[in-house]
Amino acid sequence: MERHVQLFLNRLSFAAITVATLTLLLLYLQTPDTCFDPSDPNPKPHTRFPKSTCDFNHRSYTSHEKRNRRLWSTKTWAKTVSSYTSLFKNLEARNYLSNHSRVLVVSAGPGHAVQALTDLGVEDVTGVELVESHPLVNRADPHNLPFFDGVFDLGVGAYLDRSLFPGRYVLHIERTVRRGGVCVVTVEECGKGEVEEIVKLFKKSRFIDAKNLTLAGQRRTRILMEVEKQS
Ligand SMILES: *[C@@H]1O[C@H](CO)[C@@H](O)[C@H](O)[C@H]1NC(C)=O
Ligand SMILES: *[C@@H]1O[C@H](CO)[C@@H](O)[C@H](O)[C@H]1NC(C)=O
Repeated sequence: MERHVQLFLNRLSFAAITVATLTLLLLYLQTPDTCFDPSDPNPKPHTRFPKSTCDFNHRSYTSHEKRNRRLWSTKTWAKTVSSYTSLFKNLEARNYLSNHSRVLVVSAGPGHAVQALTDLGVEDVTGVELVESHPLVNRADPHNLPFFDGVFDLGVGAYLDRSLFPGRYVLHIERTVRRGGVCVVTVEECGKGEVEEIVKLFKKSRFIDAKNLTLAGQRRTRILMEVEKQS
């Protein structure tokens, strides 16, 4: 190879190396806009990444307490609780409920009825639902209640009409309520014929009465039954 060509090629590679090095240096020194400054002592929550796969440290999340406080301060919550309060006050006035009653609420949802009962002064309230809502409602299958026979004075089936197996749903509430205690179930507002069908689901209780009312903003019929036979 001729000398001047060799020299030219050498210069060319030297220039290329210099450009590449400078580019790398520039990339290294400059933080692109899309990256977050890792030395920022107060990173925004969404910019805070785990340092390694073992970094389980504080990640901001909504605690139960926070979520509950938010839920419990809504107007809908207060309104729904108050609709249950009316239902229970009616039972209290008729001596079916007192502060010392042991009460079970099935299909308790996030716990409106449990809250209403607790606010009224009822000391022993158990709320269950397929999904737990700590601290008001525990997790249990309404069709297979994890309670002994006859341990409650009042059993409430807040949403019998949403049950997949209404017969089983009713039998389990009835089973856990003592003789002389009462069961209350509510369904979408319905007429006499449908009430009779629901009453037939009970195997050892006597029909007391049915009443149309507004619960959680919906027109519903609540049916009151008294347990007569011991299981
Ligand atoms: C039930 O408890 C509430 C709250 O503690 C109280 O205000 C109310 O007077 C009690 N009712 C009866 C009948 O003792
Ligand atoms: C409840 O309302 C329905 C109409 O939606 C009516 O047929 C029924 O008789 C009412 N029941 C009671 C107990 O008032």
